[in-house]
Amino acid sequence: MLFETHAHLNAPEFDEDREEVIARARENGVSTIVNIGFNAETIPTCLQLAEKHDFIYAVVGWHPQDAKDMTDEHLEWLEELSRHPKVLGLGEMGLDYYWDTSPKDVQAEVFRKQIRLARKVNLPIIIHNRDAHQDVITILREEKAAEVGGIMHCFSGSWETAKMALDMNFYISFGGPLTFKNAKQPKEVAAKVPLDRLLIETDCPYLTPHPFRGKRNESGYVRYVCEEMANIHGMTYEEMAKQTAENARRLFRLD
Ligand code: NI
Repeated sequence: MLFETHAHLNAPEFDEDREEVIARARENGVSTIVNIGFNAETIPTCLQLAEKHDFIYAVVGWHPQDAKDMTDEHLEWLEELSRHPKVLGLGEMGLDYYWDTSPKDVQAEVFRKQIRLARKVNLPIIIHNRDAHQDVITILREEKAAEVGGIMHCFSGSWETAKMALDMNFYISFGGPLTFKNAKQPKEVAAKVPLDRLLIETDCPYLTPHPFRGKRNESGYVRYVCEEMANIHGMTYEEMAKQTAENARRLFRLD
């Protein structure tokens, strides 16, 4: 029933027990997982997982933290991979002004190139945005990202930013931080997002939801995000699981 839209199951944190983590996700009601490969190291292992498991799909792209390493050959590689039957989108791409690992202008250029590629191959894009709300929206607008749409992943911005993304055909996805007691803004924003544009995710192994905050995250924990989202919208858990899964299937064109 649950559609987990953002995982990093190929991360080294899962090297000891990856298949058990995947099995536990199934036991927790996860029907589909979109796993994200975001640089030269993680894309091959991400694809291997998607090829091994029916219910695991892949999204591939270049993370803003690794932007300085992306070459034109990498961009051509992404274009080739966009034709892979299990690749559903491009990303995660965007801007990260928190970690200072790639210069801002390089991040912006790599972000723009990937949006242009997404429009060329007609795939939705997954957006990583850390402390860069205004610049992310500006680039999405200038590069006409509305043509392909996509996901604002683990959204942490204001309602104003969410509204601008919604107007450009984006879905708003929430992860573990939605379950934190002090997460006033994410809860308020999630309450305002139209039901047919909501998504849930874990971003595992990072951003673990309550009651496991501080421990390693895993895809099965997306159920805690779904529970919280159901509470926020005054729906049952089953209704919210169904709604968010339908949204994800529509966005990723799985029907
Ligand atoms: Ni991620």
